[in-house]
Amino acid sequence: MSIIQSHTVTLYGGNDEFKIILRPLSDDYLPYLYRWNADPEVLYWAEGDDVAAYTPEAVHQIYGSISQNSFCFAVEVNGKTIGECWLQKMNLPQVKAMYDENLDVRRIDMCIGEKEYWGKGIGTLFVGMLVDFAFSKEKVDVLHCLCEDYNIRSRRVWEKNNFTLVLEEKLPQPQKGKIQYHWRLTKEEYEKQKKGNICN
Ligand SMILES: CC(C)(COP(=O)(O)OP(=O)(O)OC[C@H]1O[C@@H](n2cnc3c(N)ncnc32)[C@H](O)[C@@H]1OP(=O)(O)O)[C@@H](O)C(=O)NCCC(=O)NCCS
Repeated sequence: MSIIQSHTVTLYGGNDEFKIILRPLSDDYLPYLYRWNADPEVLYWAEGDDVAAYTPEAVHQIYGSISQNSFCFAVEVNGKTIGECWLQKMNLPQVKAMYDENLDVRRIDMCIGEKEYWGKGIGTLFVGMLVDFAFSKEKVDVLHCLCEDYNIRSRRVWEKNNFTLVLEEKLPQPQKGKIQYHWRLTKEEYEKQKKGNICN
């Protein structure tokens, strides 16, 4: 039996410089996931908690369970696999409590594991692809995403994709993050922006 539950959605996007394909994550990608999740520098940014490395068993547990209620993707740029991202049903009780229970609220999480690809605009591009997929195909009502104050690249990705900062939550100390930022984009805001882009 597979560890990662896969799906059949492939998303295409990018720009003149970076041809991006989001492919269904599957067990074929486990060697990448083991490597990225054993790199302390990647985990420093990807995880709020201080964790230097995940064992292969922990990787199985994380992706095996997330993939049950998410679209997990491998990020391919110009033919090379560089990271992963997912669109997941909101799992945090305190965030769920902020919304009507009938709304479809989801979150996006992302990690570029190949560090030389950080800061080139790729995260912004593929999150934009996931946002389009969420609202246009999945008919999601709200995207509610998170990052901590020390992760400026992540913060910029939400800002550049037109998310609004809706909550700043103080984190218990000591830890590297002092504040957890909550970012929101609603279906209505997304559609308004799309319309604006077409008119301009
Ligand atoms: C977070 C991540 C997906 C962002 O993707 P990316 O491709 O690196 O980000 P982009 O290049 O699209 O955007 C980064 C932005 O941060 C800005 N930035 C980076 N370091 C900065 C700094 N020290 N001060 C100010 N801005 C900074 C860049 O200038 C850019 O903004 P700009 O386009 O306005 O100039 C990627 O860096 C990553 O996977 N990092 C490791 C794991 C991680 O952090 N995951 C997210 C957990 S919440």
